[in-house]
Amino acid sequence: METRVVFQSEQNIDRNVMEEAGRLIRAGELVAFPTETVYGLGGDALNTASSAKIYQAKGRPSDNPLIIHICRFEDIYEICSQVPPQAGKLAQAFWPGPLTMILPKADRVPGETTGGLDTVAVRFPSHPVARAFIEAAGGFIAAPSANVSGKPSPTLAKYVLEDMNGKIPLIIDGGAVGIGVESTIIDLTGREPELLRPGYITREMLSEVLGRVEQDQTMMEAHPTGRPKAPGMRYRHYAPKGELTLVSGEAARVASYINEQCGLAKAEHRKTGVLCTQESLPLYQASVIDSVKSMGSRESQESIARELYRVLRECDDEGLEVIFAESFSDEGLGQAVMNRLLKAAGHRTVEV
Ligand code: TXA
Ligand code: MG
Repeated sequence: METRVVFQSEQNIDRNVMEEAGRLIRAGELVAFPTETVYGLGGDALNTASSAKIYQAKGRPSDNPLIIHICRFEDIYEICSQVPPQAGKLAQAFWPGPLTMILPKADRVPGETTGGLDTVAVRFPSHPVARAFIEAAGGFIAAPSANVSGKPSPTLAKYVLEDMNGKIPLIIDGGAVGIGVESTIIDLTGREPELLRPGYITREMLSEVLGRVEQDQTMMEAHPTGRPKAPGMRYRHYAPKGELTLVSGEAARVASYINEQCGLAKAEHRKTGVLCTQESLPLYQASVIDSVKSMGSRESQESIARELYRVLRECDDEGLEVIFAESFSDEGLGQAVMNRLLKAAGHRTVEV
């Protein structure tokens, strides 16, 4: 199958492109599209054959449920059997936007979309192209991130093409995404609201609306004793091919440890890389490090979230074998960044 990439600006959405994308979805095909978090791989959420195609294109286990994307709040009633007042409050505060809610599913949502669960993940994205696409496609789009399972989520259309070329007919290219990490997931089906995946909407922000919010304790742990409640959080994710280690401590000490370790790796002819920040860039020694990459500024957690997946993908593109990354505080958006970095590193961490 030939994969076409069509550019769409947020300001000037081409109806013809949206109509074509809508036709493809109704015909049971898949279309990749930009959202404010990461690119999604969309299919008709109410068509079991489309869900099967999504799992196949991603190489994803079919017990890992998909998020259904909607483009009008009211549509939540079409796919959920119960919508508690908390969902309305959260929607008021954060929709459209990077928040996914887990709710009891309505009968018309096929088990193929929800990985056999009787709950469903619902998200109303804010990206104008995503909204226009969902609307043109009938209103209910199942979409995981548009990467092959195990790779970082795509933040640029070129990474979608890398992973999906020949597998899907159309990629809508909306340029670089704004947020860079996947939506926050909150489960509203238990006794207390519970955060299952950290994202741009932080636990503090959720608490301001709901009061107390629990947190899946397995989220940040290296060797969780329980089972993560979001099935996707169980799998090793976002892992570069090289060996990634997170280093925490005072900036100068971190840099000197990393320089030393890279020197040792270099002596064994291994290709080395560092993921650092603008502030610490001058501390690293080009003589022993093949690739020094800034993820953004320590002053802006947003900048780190936005660049994180790009730099992880570049590590593979450049064939880096031994990689070190600086650590961050897990306050606010830092929790989402550290959750992804810890997974990418397989929880390999060093404190200096
Ligand atoms: O920002 C995002 O959410 C992106 C964009 C494309 O919208 N999508 C995304 O989808 O990250 P995906 O499939 O890569 O991650 C969905 C996560 C998985 O960890 C999955 O296990 C969890 O949501 N999930 C889906 N339905 C669930 C349910 N009913 N109960 C618990 N977890 C669920
Ligand atoms: Mg994903």
